[in-house]
Amino acid sequence: MFGPLKIRIILHQSIVFHRYYTLLSISLDVIYKKKEVQVLLDGQRRKLSKIALIPTMGNFHDGHLSLIELARDYADYVVVSIFVNPTQFNDEKDFENYPRTLESDIEKLTKTGVNLLFLPDLCSLYPNGTDDAIKVIIPERANDLCGKVRPGHFEGVLSVVLRLFNIIKPDLSVFGQKDFQQKLLIEQMVMDLSLGIKIIGAPIIRERDGLAMSSRNQHLSFAAKLTAIKLHKTLLEVSYLINPKKGEFTSILKEAEDKLIGYGFDVDYISIRSSIDLSIPNKDSKKLVILASVVIEGVRLIDNILIG
Ligand code: PAF
Repeated sequence: MFGPLKIRIILHQSIVFHRYYTLLSISLDVIYKKKEVQVLLDGQRRKLSKIALIPTMGNFHDGHLSLIELARDYADYVVVSIFVNPTQFNDEKDFENYPRTLESDIEKLTKTGVNLLFLPDLCSLYPNGTDDAIKVIIPERANDLCGKVRPGHFEGVLSVVLRLFNIIKPDLSVFGQKDFQQKLLIEQMVMDLSLGIKIIGAPIIRERDGLAMSSRNQHLSFAAKLTAIKLHKTLLEVSYLINPKKGEFTSILKEAEDKLIGYGFDVDYISIRSSIDLSIPNKDSKKLVILASVVIEGVRLIDNILIG
């Protein structure tokens, strides 16, 4: 079948971008330079458009597309960015092997009603390079759960998201709740730095068998995928067993961890926390989240279930 039709548009010397058309004539603009994106968005702001940003690293699956759908409910103009951010990877190989699938990502985006795809180059986001870059420091208590397993990861995430927020200046931004700790830290950054951006959390999108959608799932063998399904099942079992009023979950979590190990996972953590701030809950904590991070065949999978 035909892919989207790509047209190069020159507004004036300093603004050059690509516009993609499909047979349904939905168009998508693609911009690479920070200056150009700012000029275009200033135009939208003059029209009083509410602007949404969805920062991504590409390799789209239905989870990403659900973020876009949610953004369209809240905003008049939706911007998606794709940037595989080197500062959030602890392992260089992981960064190099991250799937880059731009052509199919653009094809998917043309069907979603996204208005603008921002594809910043490294220099647009890190003008002084990544080693000499100013970075966001996360609070000590965030060096827990994924922050403990992946040292430096959240500093990299917040540093790039802040840069994207400063360039796009969105009214709102959508993040998936699968990365629950990431979403909470971004909310805190917005509050602490008075960024005035509404953060919307999007529910986890799952395969039919319950496996949370993730770009990492494609690295799993067939056998590992069958095992991976058991992560969600185990979290569900924990959710049925716990009594939040008791506030004491040690034995249930120990049993769940042993089960996960028995299935063949290396378990980074399985934990029950307050879903407000990820603190250790007590019997008065009304809103909880069960979170886990496990590794199978060298692939890290995370998942969570909200309670209350
Ligand atoms: O969740 C992600 O895909 C990334 O951490 C993000 C938010 C795009 C920052 O690089």
